[in-house]
Amino acid sequence: MEHSGFEPDLIVASPGRINLIGEHTDYNKGFVLPTAIDKYIIFKLKANGSPSTCTITSKDFLKSMQVDLGHLEKSTVAWENFMIGVLYHLKQHSNGIQGFDCEIESGLPMGSGVSSSAALECGLAFGLNELFQLGLDKEVLIKVGQKAEHDFVGTKCGIMDQFASVMSKAGKAILLDCKNLDHQYIPLTLGDYKILLLNTNVSHSLADSQYNLRREACESAVELLKETHPEVTSLREVTQGLLEASKAKLSPIQYQRCAYVIAENHRVQQAVTALQNGNLEDFGALMYASHEGLSKEYEVSCKELDFLVEFSKTHKSVLGSRMMGGGFGGCTINIIHKDAITAYVDEVSTAYQAAFNINLDYFEALPSEGTHILKA
Ligand code: GLA
Repeated sequence: MEHSGFEPDLIVASPGRINLIGEHTDYNKGFVLPTAIDKYIIFKLKANGSPSTCTITSKDFLKSMQVDLGHLEKSTVAWENFMIGVLYHLKQHSNGIQGFDCEIESGLPMGSGVSSSAALECGLAFGLNELFQLGLDKEVLIKVGQKAEHDFVGTKCGIMDQFASVMSKAGKAILLDCKNLDHQYIPLTLGDYKILLLNTNVSHSLADSQYNLRREACESAVELLKETHPEVTSLREVTQGLLEASKAKLSPIQYQRCAYVIAENHRVQQAVTALQNGNLEDFGALMYASHEGLSKEYEVSCKELDFLVEFSKTHKSVLGSRMMGGGFGGCTINIIHKDAITAYVDEVSTAYQAAFNINLDYFEALPSEGTHILKA
């Protein structure tokens, strides 16, 4: 599908992300600790001289789409909506976009929880901002990505993935306060330990609908808590004490979801302290606690993810393990001693294959720079 003779004016690398801890806290205005990884979607872009015709080719799907900037409507083809959504929302901020040709090639495993969607959205927004010198700042591009996902793809995601994909710095994690986007870069000094992702290679179809339901459960709980505590605008302001005192107002499920979110926010802060003190054992224990909450209270795990986390508990070389991202499949993130990786991967793959008859994929993730230009 490569356009013969396609000479891009600009090449942009847009990374996937990992999240060390702080899951399902972003849309509750809480804390997260993500960073970009050394796997990217590459965008090759060129202005084509037309005022409004855009051609985007995905080398992975072997598909091409053509859109007119004057007629940006939802498509029935899933991947096209990421692109159309970005164009639509970019246009709300600038009249400067014109016709372009774009080739996309992904080095990110799709549906594995490393947010290929945010990489897709933000890479295009970032690339067009550069190509047409729109002058939009990074925060606008991040929000354009998120809005594309809300309005065109249909997932009411938080801001973590887009923020991490664009803003990350090599060797650091971002402690992001999703209430106001205040952020701090935390050095990831892991010594002899590495970040290993194990990909379950399952992506349960519940994922999107259940994601939106979790968000709704939290938001409806906040509405109820507001009746007696009008100062509460999100679960961020709810303490464990307030939750206990208000238990009778909430359904058991609402209570359970809120309890998880409040505890997870606290764990993010404890995890940062552990990292800053070089205490990786404590950090790992917090990862395990996070998984327990996601699996039992928030109920967004699945048997394949639980199996991998349980398996790791019997191996001293793994300090911590948890499901990562929205859930219902995708990857676990593991902190593992560098010398143990080969043997561990061998053992866990065999056990996983025997339990589910599914091949396990793995890769090491290096905390990396956010979206950047490869060639201008
Ligand atoms: C997905 C969403 C994020 C975040 C995570 C869960 O990746 O896109 O906004 O909510 O799930 O932490």
